[in-house]
Amino acid sequence: MSNHVLGILCSGRGSNMQSILAAIDAGQIKASVGVVLTDKPEAKALTLAREKGLRSVCINRKACSTQQEFEEKLVAELRAAGVTLVILAGFMRILSPYFVGEYRHQILNIHPSLLPSFGGAHAHRDVLAYGTKVSGCTIHFVDEGMDHGPIILQDTVPVLDGDTEEILAARVLQKEHILYPKAIELYVDGRLELVDDRHVRIKQ
Ligand code: GRF
Repeated sequence: MSNHVLGILCSGRGSNMQSILAAIDAGQIKASVGVVLTDKPEAKALTLAREKGLRSVCINRKACSTQQEFEEKLVAELRAAGVTLVILAGFMRILSPYFVGEYRHQILNIHPSLLPSFGGAHAHRDVLAYGTKVSGCTIHFVDEGMDHGPIILQDTVPVLDGDTEEILAARVLQKEHILYPKAIELYVDGRLELVDDRHVRIKQ
C-alpha cells in the first residue's frame, strides 16, 4: 500500500468511482479513499460510497453563495481527509484557479472523448454530429483550462453507423472503466513524470 489517499468527486451515477473502488479492492491501485464528495444531494455516487462505508459528504453548490465558498468547503474536506490525489469522476462543475492551485498536478479528470476534440458537456452528441469515425476517452491532469491539462492516457472506440448518444456512451464507458484505474495506478506507483505543461511521460 502506498501512502496515497484519494478524494473522489462525483456528481451523478458514479460508475467510474465504482471501477476505481473495485481496482483498490483488487489490489491494482495501492491507495485508500479518504472521502467521496458530491455537489448534488441526489447523486447515486453518494449512496454507493455510503454503502461501501466510505466517508461521503455532499457540499450542495446551491447552498453556497459563491463558487469560492463552495470550493473552500471542498478543499477543507479534502485536507481533513489527508487527500493526496483528487479524482474527478463525472464531477460536472468547472473548478476555479483557486482549487487547481491548491492541488496542482494532483487532480485527475476523465473526459469521454479524444481530447482536444469534443471537450465540454456533450461529447458524444458532438462526435455524432461531426461524423468522426473514432471516439474514445482521455485521462488528464487538471489545469486552469476546461478539459485542457496534460494527457496521461487515451483509448479509442469505433463510431458505428446507427450509433445513438446512448450506444456510443456505453461503448466509451467500458473503456473508461479500464483506463481510469490504470491512470490512477500509474500515479500512485510514481510512474507519471510531468515533463512540461503538456507532456506526461510514463516511466517503465
Ligand atoms: C463519464 O462518461 C465521464 O467520462 C464523464 O461523465 C460520466 C460520468 O459517469 N465525465 P459516471 O458517474 O462515472 O458513471
